[in-house]
Amino acid sequence: MKIFIDSGDTNEIREAHEMGLIDGVTTNPTLASKSGKPFKQLIMEITEIIDGPISAEVVSTTAAEIIPEGEGLAQWHKNIVVKVPLIGEGLKAVKALTAKGIKTNVTLCFTASQALLAAKAGATYISPFVGRLDDISTDGMQVIRDIRLIYDNYGYETQILTASARSPMHFLEAARIGSDVITAPFSVLKQLLHHPLTDSGLKKFLADWEKAQK
Ligand code: G3P
Repeated sequence: MKIFIDSGDTNEIREAHEMGLIDGVTTNPTLASKSGKPFKQLIMEITEIIDGPISAEVVSTTAAEIIPEGEGLAQWHKNIVVKVPLIGEGLKAVKALTAKGIKTNVTLCFTASQALLAAKAGATYISPFVGRLDDISTDGMQVIRDIRLIYDNYGYETQILTASARSPMHFLEAARIGSDVITAPFSVLKQLLHHPLTDSGLKKFLADWEKAQK
């Protein structure tokens, strides 16, 4: 499973990259605004840190506007993936952008049926938001299971990018199901790394080593 970091913070993107954890980056308008940087500057800084897919989201809502906005984003750098909302106008734009060879990430997906439509439109990635479904007492990971089944039934090549991941259990379950990618905040990636037995085991090894040197 590929791992993307869901972040607009270049310091944490750099740190996660240096730890060898990440294959790409996802951003959204909320994360980009939090960075306090002009959007293009932020995305260009990210392209200098990591050589992998970087999702940059459009803010238009009609195909007539999304298409030129997406084309503009794609021209910034070869690794840009244009993130488009899962609305009818968004899918029209995905079809047109895909025909021009531009990679897309269809976002704000909450059902497997929506994911099927995005795949038919030619999306490169589909981003189902598991955490936001859990927030409203709906099993987010079940949507990932259903999408995996449906895409495999019909041979769709759209990659499942499990998004809105909030916990190590989302990560583990996504990997079990066969999600192609997961995107998670740095806090979740760090949670995955730590285990109390690793920490206590290392402490003991180092203490034993020290004793033996005396
Ligand atoms: O980037 C989209 C997604 O990962 C948002 O996550 O935690 O705001 O629901 P969250």
